Amino acid sequence: MAKIPESVATLTDKDERELLELAYGACLKAYAPYSRFQVGAAVRTTKGTYVGCNVENGSYGLTSCAERNAVFAAVTAEGGKVQVESVAIYARTTGKKVKTASPCGACRQVLAEFGREASVTFLEAGRFRTMKLAELIPATFELY
Ligand code: THU
Repeated sequence: MAKIPESVATLTDKDERELLELAYGACLKAYAPYSRFQVGAAVRTTKGTYVGCNVENGSYGLTSCAERNAVFAAVTAEGGKVQVESVAIYARTTGKKVKTASPCGACRQVLAEFGREASVTFLEAGRFRTMKLAELIPATFELY
């Protein structure tokens, strides 16, 4: 894998650092020829860790976000009883540093299906911030 960015390598919390390293690795695989905004997500469940990257499409609306792809990989591997404990998101783009990359609303809703208490680490104003998913999306849509 390419050299881990300093902002990740210097994190003191080992779990957070390792999850972000996986998110970084996933972000390098992103298919983002349209936005040039590469996103990687790593999802740790009670049983394993899964990654996803964003996959864009020439029909823009068909683009699939990194976070959702990581959740879908977890469900594909474990089945529907997945319990997400933590999530890390890393993003990069060409020519400038990405300062903020928090999960979009759709991804928050999808993550909430599998762990409302999950910790989510993302870039905010040039630093990594960790919040509970329940803080990021306090009133999820629930069917019935
Ligand atoms: N993107 C993600 O992968 N995750 C998000 O939470 C928001 C945005 C992707 C979609 C698109 O490929 C690129 O970032 C720019 O919007």
